[in-house]
Parts: sequence; C-alpha cells; structure tokens
Amino acid sequence: MKKHLVFATVLSCHLASLSVVAVVQASGAPQGLRAEAALPSRHPHVVQDALRFCEPKPGFWVDLGAGRGQVAIPLIEATDNPVVMIDPDAPAMAKGLALAREKGLADHLFAIVGVAEELPLPDNSVDLLVSRGSIFFWDDAPKGLREVYRVLRPGGKAYIGGGAGSGYPRWAAEKLVEGRRARLEGDDAPRWRRFVELRRPEQMRQWAEAAELPDFKVMGQGAISADDPDVGQGVWVLFEKPEG
Ligand SMILES: C[S@@+](CC[C@H](N)C(=O)[O-])C[C@H]1O[C@@H](n2cnc3c(N)ncnc32)[C@H](O)[C@@H]1O
Repeated sequence: MKKHLVFATVLSCHLASLSVVAVVQASGAPQGLRAEAALPSRHPHVVQDALRFCEPKPGFWVDLGAGRGQVAIPLIEATDNPVVMIDPDAPAMAKGLALAREKGLADHLFAIVGVAEELPLPDNSVDLLVSRGSIFFWDDAPKGLREVYRVLRPGGKAYIGGGAGSGYPRWAAEKLVEGRRARLEGDDAPRWRRFVELRRPEQMRQWAEAAELPDFKVMGQGAISADDPDVGQGVWVLFEKPEG
C-alpha cells in the first residue's frame, strides 16, 4: 500500500506540469493506422502472452510506453495486480487513469511521466515490465533496454515489442497483415517501409545485442507476418535478470 501512495504522489507532481509534455508519435506515424483500430483489440491477447511467457510474481509491475493504459488495464483485469504506467505523454496516461477510475480500478493503476532511456525507478525493483508498441519510438532503444535491465529485480522479466498476440483471431491477423502489405505499395509507402523495417526480428536482436543484455529471446516474424505460433503477428524480446 505504501508503494501505491508513493506513485500517486509522483503522478500528482507530474500532472501539475502538464504544459511540458512530449507527445512523440503523431508526426511519424504512417497513414492507415487508424483503419487498423477498427479491427478487434490486440491488447488482451498480448497480455495473455506476456503472462504465459513471464509467469510474473505478484509485485511491482510496469507498462512502459503505456499510452492510455491499453495494456496496463487488461493486465490488471486479468490478474488484479497493480500496474504503474510510464510514458512521456502525460495526457494519454491521464485518459488511462480516468478509464481505470470508471472501471473501479483507480487503486490499481498509477502513472509516472518519463522515458525508457532514463527510467525514474530504483535499481532491482520491478517484477514485470511489459511494453507494447513503444520501443519503435524510443530515441535510443539499446539505452532503454539497458535501463529496463537495471530496474528489473533479480528474477524479474521484461516482455517488450509489438504485435497482436498469439490468441488474436486468425481472420483479423490476416486482415492486418494484408492491409500493411498493400500500404507498402501505396501513397505512404516510405513511412510504411520504415514501420516494417523497425519491427523486424533482426532489428530487435540488434538492439538487444547493443544493450549487452546477458541473455534474451527474440520472438515473432515482424509487422507483416502472423505466422509465428508463439506470438502470432509481431516481434518481441523477452529477458530476465538472473537471481543471485
Ligand atoms: C503506439 S503507442 C503504444 C501505446 C500502448 N502501449 C499500446 O500498446 O497501445 C507508443 C507509446 O510510446 C510512448 N513513447 C514514445 N517514446 C518513448 C520513450 N522514449 N520512452 C517511453 N515511451 C515512449 C509514446 O508516448 C506512446 O504512448
């Protein structure tokens, strides 16, 4: 309970200075992402994969690059464990907090304004860190991954990447991939190519190696394949800080 109070205080300090908010992604996002929002939500499926791969201990859980808490809220609903969101976009997190309040989860969701590259958390403190759809926007992905490793508690795990989740309906995953393939040839092709490039497993491996993570596993075949049996559409890196 004490931990909850600390983070509530942190949030109120940051919300007092909402005027200096870094809203990161609007400018670089390719056209057509909005069409994807009409498909079923991918977040609950990602939550199920994260829980299956990480088998987290109850404790201090973080959703990094949380946005409006699209992962954090279903994660709380699935487990009843509190979650702290971290994101530079304070207004987005404020929307997540409002939604959590409406759902009766106000005492389970907290927020800190911050970036992956400089996590506002102590060493060895986090039991589970999940991050969906965010690493592709970080200014320095290896630095962010090093920071994640620093804050993990021994035995803590991180699941970072982007995608729809292995339980996402096959028809919807196919529609998502088809739409992206078509857009690679469309009006906004250069931005879509960049979008796909950043979400390749080779890119994720390169970031993890540059971060000098002692051990990690890259999963998924990227933005335009739903063929990976473990994670479905997308790409992820999974790692743990060893005990002792
Ligand atoms: C596409 S949204 C993903 C939101 C949510 N996690 C989801 O799965 O829908 C990307 C989020 O990453 C955040 N972000 C951008 N740069 C970041 C950084 N350096 N560290 C942490 N989060 C960052 C953005 O503010 C944004 O909320």
